[in-house]
Amino acid sequence: MELGKPMKENFLLDNSIAFVQHGSYGPAPKCVIDQKIKYIYEQESSPDDWFRVKHPQYYEESLSAAARFIGAKPENLVLLDNVTTGINTVIKSLSFEPGDRIMVNSHTYGAIANAVKEQHDFKGVEIVHVEITMPIKCEDELVDVFRKEYEKHKPIRLHVFDHITSTSALVFPVKKLAKLAKEYGTLSLIDGAHAPGQVDLNVEDIGADFYSADFYKWCYVARSCGFLWLSPDQAGKIRPLVTSHGYKQSLNDQFNYSGTRDCSSMFTIPRALQFYEEIGGLKALQSHADKVLGVACKSLAAALGTGEMDVPDSMKAPFMRLVRLPIDKPAQSLKRFTTHDDVREALTNMGTYISRENKIETMFTFISDVVYVRLSANAYTSGEDFRKLEESLILAKDHFNG
Ligand SMILES: Cc1ncc(COP(=O)(O)O)c(C=O)c1O
Repeated sequence: MELGKPMKENFLLDNSIAFVQHGSYGPAPKCVIDQKIKYIYEQESSPDDWFRVKHPQYYEESLSAAARFIGAKPENLVLLDNVTTGINTVIKSLSFEPGDRIMVNSHTYGAIANAVKEQHDFKGVEIVHVEITMPIKCEDELVDVFRKEYEKHKPIRLHVFDHITSTSALVFPVKKLAKLAKEYGTLSLIDGAHAPGQVDLNVEDIGADFYSADFYKWCYVARSCGFLWLSPDQAGKIRPLVTSHGYKQSLNDQFNYSGTRDCSSMFTIPRALQFYEEIGGLKALQSHADKVLGVACKSLAAALGTGEMDVPDSMKAPFMRLVRLPIDKPAQSLKRFTTHDDVREALTNMGTYISRENKIETMFTFISDVVYVRLSANAYTSGEDFRKLEESLILAKDHFNG
């Protein structure tokens, strides 16, 4: 199957929209959605058989396929709806006490930062918030930033950090950061939302205590589906957010049935990963994305008179890149898109406006006072999509400055 425009036929995407925004929600291909629908019909045709016989069988098959794909032992892995659930599961199980410290940073995803903030608000946890300013020259510079914070604030009980950041599309050196956490006796919890499918992942090898991520973003699994990996040393401390029939049983028995619910998305894991391999797998996808993103970012930066976000090669997300927008004073310039003086809200509203006006789905982000557009590429993305993005941003330039 040819990557690029012909691949779009395998998805349900609206052909009139240039969709360069895969990073947020997927989508899954038609064959996976068909599989999900098949499961829903199967479930409805015989609900009791589905929950007593099929559900455990499909869970087992999905768990095995997922474990192989991310280099995990199935006994250390549980399947969940999404990474937010995985991270909340760990944070809420750890029974924090007043004065305990959790470290996050300025690139931590908002929902995850809130899960930590809740521990501050209700348990008196101290948040160590690390400001990571751009540009970063190399991985070791980032590791040193964190090392200084460990020194200043030790002991830190938990460090939550991303594998690939959302709004800045940075690959963090997770192995080095997990090692650093161990050095300081700190538990490491990795938010890997964007990593599976985008980078070669071997969770057992990273050396973290906990790793949670999404499968619906870059692995073609139907929405919604994610996982939580637990190091064997820590597994005993972690309980599901919802207690059900599997109470006090094996890790997977505790997690795989959190009350009656529809797991048809989760059970598409084997079909989705088969599709991932059928279209060429990681190397082919990375090479395609690198080609289209390379051309698009250069051309867009030239058209806007700006540049790409400066990121060392080893920290570049394979499927996502950022190009600067020509907006000098975002708080004043984007006022027409916000009711408060909130640049992020203005950018979300501007994204909605541009998407409706120009039939283009993209995302704007704000890092260290600079506004960027985030370009996502996937199997079906072609130069044509990015040319449409470029045309729409040239037209939108007038809106950027009031
Ligand atoms: C880095 C990161 N963490 C967490 C999330 C939350 O993902 P979900 O809503 O699937 O739990 C996202 C969503 O895009 C993300 O980018």
